[in-house]
Amino acid sequence: MLGQAEGLKEGPKVITVVSGKGGVGKSIVSVNLAIAISRLQKRVLLFDADIGFGSVEILLGTTSKLSLKDYFQKKIPLNEIIMNTPYDIDVLSSGLEVEDLVYFNMGDKNSLYRDFANLIRKYDYIVLDFPPGYNENLESFYETSDFLVVVTTPEPTSLINTYTFLKMMMIKGIDPNEIHVVMNMVRDMKKGRQSLEKFVGVIERFIGMAVTATHIMRFENGVRRSVEIQKPFTLYKKTLQPSLVMYRLANMITRQRKESKKESFIEKLKTFLGIG
Ligand SMILES: Nc1ncnc2c1ncn2[C@@H]1O[C@H](COP(=O)(O)OP(=O)(O)OP(=O)(O)O)[C@@H](O)[C@H]1O
Ligand SMILES: [Mg+2]
Repeated sequence: MLGQAEGLKEGPKVITVVSGKGGVGKSIVSVNLAIAISRLQKRVLLFDADIGFGSVEILLGTTSKLSLKDYFQKKIPLNEIIMNTPYDIDVLSSGLEVEDLVYFNMGDKNSLYRDFANLIRKYDYIVLDFPPGYNENLESFYETSDFLVVVTTPEPTSLINTYTFLKMMMIKGIDPNEIHVVMNMVRDMKKGRQSLEKFVGVIERFIGMAVTATHIMRFENGVRRSVEIQKPFTLYKKTLQPSLVMYRLANMITRQRKESKKESFIEKLKTFLGIG
């Protein structure tokens, strides 16, 4: 049996989805990975940190009128803000820049922490869809990730931005437990695989970071179409190559037996909110 202190440390595993630049498929990966994990009988909360545009909702074909902003401004309880979807995953929309949390007063932060800690205990995984680019205000989230999923495309600009992102992490001494690199929108699989291998070689040699696994996702019209009809491809096109990639990643993540050396998300949240 767990002691009380250990019991308190329990909580969901955190999967942070990041990219060096925008438009590379971060939200698509977040949504479909969350769904693939929920298919493995895990409870998943997807946190949409995208402001205003609500791309996660568009991808899921659902709309939520409430966001964290309403929690702060109108004191609406968090469990009313969480949106249930027809896909067995729950979604929480930020509605504000995550770094704006810094500006809320202490009382707000303390209650946010308490409410949030209570709420997320029932989930096995939290998937965070973060804004593109390295953001110093989000460092404690990169750091606390059990899994950092880095999405890039084979385009040189995307690769350079991804490299810069990881280099910043190295400079700041941030070391997530596992790093998965997803190369998305690959049209030529052979060339894509070669450039991914080369890229990971560069990361390991020049940044000194160990990449846990690489994943290569084909450019498929079915993905585009799934966005248009607002139905996640992991459910409607299960044999599409990008679906297989998402299920493989979900399997790797949920099969991880190695204990994470990370402080729990709930603990880290305190540090982030400055109430540690
Ligand atoms: N594998 C793919 N095959 C075909 N099209 C794709 C693929 N991946 C992404 N796309 C297209 O790219 C678009 C952008 O994807 P997505 O919204 O996930 O990017 P993002 O990185 O979250 O962007 P942002 O930086 O704006 O949040 C999608 O709407 C889709 O049309
Ligand atoms: Mg997005």
